[in-house]
This record gives sequence, structure tokens and C-alpha cells, in this order.
Amino acid sequence: MSAIPWNLEPVAGAPLGAVMTGIDLTSPPAGLLDALPSLLAKHGVMVFRDQSLPPEALLDLAGAFGPVEESVLDQFSKPGYPKIYTLSNIIENGRPIGSATDGFGWHTDQGYFERPTAYTFLYGIETPAEGADTVFSTTRRAYDSLPQERQAALRHIMTRHSYMKMMTDRAKKPEFAGKVPMPTEEQRARVPEVVHPLVRRHPVDGGQGLYLGGQTLVEMIGLAPAESDALTKELFILCTAERFQYRHVWRPRDLVVWDNRHTMHRATPYDKERFRRLVWRVSVQGERPVAA
Ligand code: SIN
Repeated sequence: MSAIPWNLEPVAGAPLGAVMTGIDLTSPPAGLLDALPSLLAKHGVMVFRDQSLPPEALLDLAGAFGPVEESVLDQFSKPGYPKIYTLSNIIENGRPIGSATDGFGWHTDQGYFERPTAYTFLYGIETPAEGADTVFSTTRRAYDSLPQERQAALRHIMTRHSYMKMMTDRAKKPEFAGKVPMPTEEQRARVPEVVHPLVRRHPVDGGQGLYLGGQTLVEMIGLAPAESDALTKELFILCTAERFQYRHVWRPRDLVVWDNRHTMHRATPYDKERFRRLVWRVSVQGERPVAA
């Protein structure tokens, strides 16, 4: 049997995350792209160090895993590349080149779509020397930690999600006052409310995990408002507990890829006066979530 032509190390002491070194993703070793969906289902997050990825190479790579999505706030797309979303605090010609308010607060990407993002590719071009870590958690392990009767009860619940709830909540935060762009009518029309199962079956390996979306979550359908709020709070606390986390400390040229079906993540702050951040995000559309 031939040896696997890559070096993969699960992150020591963390319940999710693995780091792959010694490969160049502009010419991936044979078998790697086919293996990635299973590796991502297993590890949740994969870090590829020292990658040199021009925009086309990043789009080609992500496109190997499904249709690449356009973001709702298209004003932050990289010019000429509508499918690359820019996260940045850099101002050029008096205009922000990217969004500086995305990603804070625990969430999975674009859970407000009927077919939410399966895989996110985040490529660090300029990364602050301090702060701006991305923290991930495994909602599969969180679900596994619950007693079986509780798991069974949760499996019946559906959740309602709203893009506009997320944006209006974000705009109310003092740190983002006046900085959150409200979507145009046309942008809003792309994101009607959607309903997803609370416990989601993973299409690659059949595993089960909680699917909370994030600030988009409006209600647990069928529960009284107070009960719905209490359950939402309880499950957010569970899913984001430190024992279920991996904190990624960025280096320039890291490509971090994650599977949104059974993970959550959040961006962390950095000193925007001292440091520049320039990160490209490419999102791959997934399937309609299936109840476990
Ligand atoms: C995201 O939530 O998509 C981005 C996370 C980050 O900026 O660290």
C-alpha cells in the first residue's frame, strides 16, 4: 500500500482541527481533494500553512467542492471577483476595501440560506501580529455530550432563521455604531427567512450535531417564546464551551477551511489602528440541512 502523500497532524489537546503541511494547494497531491470532505467531517477545521494562492487558484480549489456563493453584501467583494469576499480594516481611496464588522459572535456561515454554506475557505494575506484569532467549536461533540433522551427530544425541533435579525442586532452593538451597512431591497430579497433542523445529519459520514446558525436564530419552532429563548441560550453556552474549542492564531498565507455543518466559529477583535488585516473568504454552497 502506498504512503499517504501529505502530513496531517490533529491539533494537540483540541477536540477539533488538524494542520496539513508540506503541500502546495495550487497542485494538490493525488487523492487529497477526494479525501478532504471526509477529513473535514472528521476534524471540522483544517489549516494549510504557507500557501500562495492567487484569486483564481483559491476559487478553483473551493469550486472543486461545490458551487461557490456570492455574498449578500456584494460591495465587499474583491474587485473583479464577485465570489471573493474581503474582510479587512484597510481604507483605500477613502473607501473600506472590505468588511470590518463580519464574523464576531458565534455562528456558522450563512445559515440564513436555504442551502447554507458547507465549506468556508479563509485565506490570510495580511494578518495582525496580535488578536484577530478565529475560534472554532465542535457542535458534534457538544451534542454527543448530552444524555440520549435529551438528544432524542432535540431531534424533533426545527428552527427559524433571519438574515435581517442578524444585521439589526449587529447594528445595535456600540462597537459597530454607524458601521453596519443595511442591505438594499435587492440584497434583502435574496435572503427570505428559512427553517432548519436543530440537529443535523452530516451528509458525508452520517454524524449528528447541533445546528444553531448564529445571531440569525429567531426561534425554536413550537416552543413558547421564553422556553425557546432559554433553550437557545443553553445550547449556545454548551456548543461554545471551552472544552469544545480550537483557537486558530493566524500566520500570513494560512488557508483555513472548515465544515460549517457541525462547527461554529467567531472572529476576535484586534487593534485596528495598529494592524492591517486582509483576508479573503470564499464560501461553498451545501445541501439543504437534513434532520438527524
Ligand atoms: C467569518 O466568520 O467568516 C470570518 C471569521 C474571521 O474573520 O476570523
